[in-house]
Amino acid sequence: MDLPKWYGDPYRSRHRRAAEIRTDGAIGSLNDGIVFELHGVSTRIIAWPGNGFQTESLHVLTFEPGQEMEPHAYGLAEEAMLCVQGGGEALVRGGWVDFAPGDMAFFPPPVEHSLRAGKEGMVVAAAISPPEFEHYEKTGLYNRAVGVIDTEAAFYAHNNSVPGDLSGPSQLAYHETAEEVRAWNLSADEIRTGGALFNVFRGAKIDVIDAPMVFVLWPGYGPRSTGFHFATGEPGLTSALHAHPASDECVVLWEGSARAWQGGGWHEMEIFDVVFAPCGVGHGVSFLPGGSLWGGFAAPPQLDLYARTDFYEGTGTFAAPPQERLDV
Ligand SMILES: [Fe+2]
Repeated sequence: MDLPKWYGDPYRSRHRRAAEIRTDGAIGSLNDGIVFELHGVSTRIIAWPGNGFQTESLHVLTFEPGQEMEPHAYGLAEEAMLCVQGGGEALVRGGWVDFAPGDMAFFPPPVEHSLRAGKEGMVVAAAISPPEFEHYEKTGLYNRAVGVIDTEAAFYAHNNSVPGDLSGPSQLAYHETAEEVRAWNLSADEIRTGGALFNVFRGAKIDVIDAPMVFVLWPGYGPRSTGFHFATGEPGLTSALHAHPASDECVVLWEGSARAWQGGGWHEMEIFDVVFAPCGVGHGVSFLPGGSLWGGFAAPPQLDLYARTDFYEGTGTFAAPPQERLDV
């Protein structure tokens, strides 16, 4: 097996215990985590309560060509599913629609949802907020009877897992298909209750941490427990170093190369690397030549950012600005 060049770096998520990540962060990767089968699909656990996160889980789903996920619904959690590579269809608002890299399907509870891959198969990054613990019973690492994850066993399971082979370049792109279920054609109430199809290149344009970004999933558009932001920047730009006091975050490098600041130092990042920033852990990102794209899953949504914008109306309510294209 060819090991990735990050293998053995002590700050990497597979080499750090849950308590270390919870208090000081780590660098992970969409290729790095325990693999199990969930709803019939091969699922790699990137972030979860077994490695220092409390309010969100992040999984990478790898679909075989033509494979369909078992339809399912959650009573409490929201799920955001981002098509990363390949493509297929998503069951959104009761109908199957095209689902291509860059599209993000949002499913609130208790909406039944599913995905199915086309001829080339499909890779999807899925955030579930709050985490659905029952999923993890199948790994043998969660004990429902006493309500605990065996984090020491999870550490060794992760430490011995085989890295994935997802590689760049990114296929993320802007799409306007299925206009009847696109978030920009629905009200926040409709999205909050029935779901929608977003695209990561379109949202509310914001600049509160010194990097141009769009808020894609956030309360202004309906989601209550799941957030996603997408950002780009000129080479040399560095975001403000910051922490979210009440929001877990996984910031993924979707394109290009970059550096991430965390744990008192800078880390060289390659495509599909992930900054692990649980609640309160400081982090920042930089942009290097080559057109970097950063995008972060955060849960619950980052009120600390929204409260700094003109969209904030106080006590957790927001104006809903139009969804605009991110300039890249
Ligand atoms: Fe952040």
